[in-house]
Amino acid sequence: MRNSRFIFGSFIFILLVGCTSVDSRKKFVEENIIYACEQTHCMLTSLGETQGRYPRSTKKDGSLSTTDIYGWTSGFFPGTLWMLYELTNDSCWKEKAVEWTLPLEPNKYNTKDHDVGFMMYNSFGRGFALTKDKSYRDILVQTANSLMTRFNPNVHSIKSWEGGKAPHDTIVWQFPVIIDNMMNLELLFWASKETGDKKYYDVAVTHANTTIKNHLREDFSCYHVVDYDSITGEIRDKATAQGYADNSAWARGQAWGIYGFTMVYRETGDPKYLSVAQKMADFFLNNPSLPEDKIPLWDFNVGQDGYTKGWKFDDTKLGYIPRDASAAAIAASALLELYQYTKSPEYYDSAATMIHSLASDLYRAKLGDNAGFLLKHSTGSLPHGKEIDVPLVYADYYFLEALSRYLNTDKAS
Ligand code: GLY
Repeated sequence: MRNSRFIFGSFIFILLVGCTSVDSRKKFVEENIIYACEQTHCMLTSLGETQGRYPRSTKKDGSLSTTDIYGWTSGFFPGTLWMLYELTNDSCWKEKAVEWTLPLEPNKYNTKDHDVGFMMYNSFGRGFALTKDKSYRDILVQTANSLMTRFNPNVHSIKSWEGGKAPHDTIVWQFPVIIDNMMNLELLFWASKETGDKKYYDVAVTHANTTIKNHLREDFSCYHVVDYDSITGEIRDKATAQGYADNSAWARGQAWGIYGFTMVYRETGDPKYLSVAQKMADFFLNNPSLPEDKIPLWDFNVGQDGYTKGWKFDDTKLGYIPRDASAAAIAASALLELYQYTKSPEYYDSAATMIHSLASDLYRAKLGDNAGFLLKHSTGSLPHGKEIDVPLVYADYYFLEALSRYLNTDKAS
């Protein structure tokens, strides 16, 4: 791949956008997309010969850290490449997207991970939407079948993880379900429409209903993990793995919930899910600890009275409370979809603030820096002392999706 082909593609894109609009929002998005093309080219160069490895974050020395095809984040980079193809119509990006999508195929038989939705729907799913390639369709249907094997009718949920436990608990989880799992339902809704078989839809709706019942609190914040008895379906534990405390609001979990329930409303048309998405969004946006730039702290309740951390990592050594840009990127994208259904200006304006904050020098990396990632200042799992204040591949993916939605969403006057 030659850099000049990418730059030429970007140039064509400028002409197209420039001809159709002089609107400042569109110019802003256009500048960010050109930046994303150039920075992703840097990423591809730095990936070089790392055969079979997918970008994930950075190591302590700032160099690229990667995952194999079975890591939960493997689909985000191919998804980013498909989005760049969609946004620029430049076939160079399609070539790269195909190259980075196809090696994920073995995940179609992956029954050990609920995150096959992330891995496969963001890669093959985006590819199928753009190309209608039947082989992608078949791979996705098989992936949906694999995900379905994790549904337990006693629990009325899809199992997220194979065991685990909260850092401070003695209880070992038997059937843990995490709020993040809402995101994987999109693959099942797609499979139902594509095959005409309602079983996928029914499982997705059942899982969403169980999540409303057991993950959500009265104030519409959510638990990260709910553990069930796989025989009786009874709740064994309500806890956190990546948040500050069991009863706290982990920022990315809240963002997954807003995005997930907005998507379930899109797929079902049932206003119950729209109402949940709105209330989860209102919790996020009206939270007193949300900074003015609307990029949340990694958890809304860090260090507050009534919230006790149970993990050992000494976060006081950091000397500050890290943000999570990935939570903002996910929320911004979700809020723009939520705006379409509600026309509530607060959702549009908040998404715009988040996107502009993320695109500012504070969060957006200088060209060639940041190991080729677009955004800085995300937090993967602070309680584990892992990926603190770093780039994360999913922050970039949802930032690009949010930019694309921003480009295509006009605010009603
Ligand atoms: N789904 C895992 C995470 O959000 O970190």
